[in-house]
Amino acid sequence: MVERARSVVFGEVVEQYDAARPGYPAQLITDVLAYAAPGPVLEVGAGTGKATAGFAARGVDLTCVEPDPRMAAVLTTKCPGVRVQIGKFEDYVPDQAFGLLYSAQAWHWVDEERRWDLAHAALAPGGAVAVFWNIYVVADPDLLAALAAVDERHGVSTSSLHRPAPPMGHAEHPLAGDARFTDLDERRYLGTSRYEAGRYLDLVRSISAYRMLAPGTRDALLADMAALLGDDVEMAFATDLGLARRAQ
Ligand SMILES: C[S@@+](CC[C@H](N)C(=O)[O-])C[C@H]1O[C@@H](n2cnc3c(N)ncnc32)[C@H](O)[C@@H]1O
Repeated sequence: MVERARSVVFGEVVEQYDAARPGYPAQLITDVLAYAAPGPVLEVGAGTGKATAGFAARGVDLTCVEPDPRMAAVLTTKCPGVRVQIGKFEDYVPDQAFGLLYSAQAWHWVDEERRWDLAHAALAPGGAVAVFWNIYVVADPDLLAALAAVDERHGVSTSSLHRPAPPMGHAEHPLAGDARFTDLDERRYLGTSRYEAGRYLDLVRSISAYRMLAPGTRDALLADMAALLGDDVEMAFATDLGLARRAQ
């Protein structure tokens, strides 16, 4: 049996993904557009459009690259005004120079040996790159520890869902020391949200570490989690943003 790629498992649960995943703070979109150079915008790994909708609503000229046709179908319905290129960013050939390239929760899926070279090539001189990720943390520390124990019991070691958020700036900016980029910046946005228990379980279902489990194991894990959740769960969110600009 051919092992399926972990980077493209999201389309298996496209409806749960779109319903359960949070969007991104409006202030982040304002800040990214204020930082960016004028010109067309490129999104890498747009998925079902959770970030795209916010950028498209600001009237930008947007091209989205997304390899999974199931995710892209929802994206096209949700954001009819954007151009959608189905394929991996590694295979995308830009036909214009972009003033901004952004990627929401997806940059880690692009080949780490090539991704900054590809971003550099896609940007106009002075163009901006913005990469951001949501970190979700169950606010109650006892519940968080109990959910982490469920992960461990079922052999899930690669999910960060039930780990405390790392402090901001815990790692060096990935472009530190790369002379092709300048004006490096990092920002964190904080928020809270109540998740109904069913939505929380759909969030779990939408995360690649859990998608890679055998279906029987995943069902047992979800049942154990459901037994710990009440009607709803208080969630704390951090959205981490990294910014840089292509040197002239
Ligand atoms: C966690 S989802 C994030 C989707 C969306 N940006 C969001 O914020 O909800 C990761 C997305 O990256 C896409 N992806 C995976 N590998 C990719 C690659 N090499 N190039 C571009 N996109 C990729 C997946 O198909 C998936 O839609």
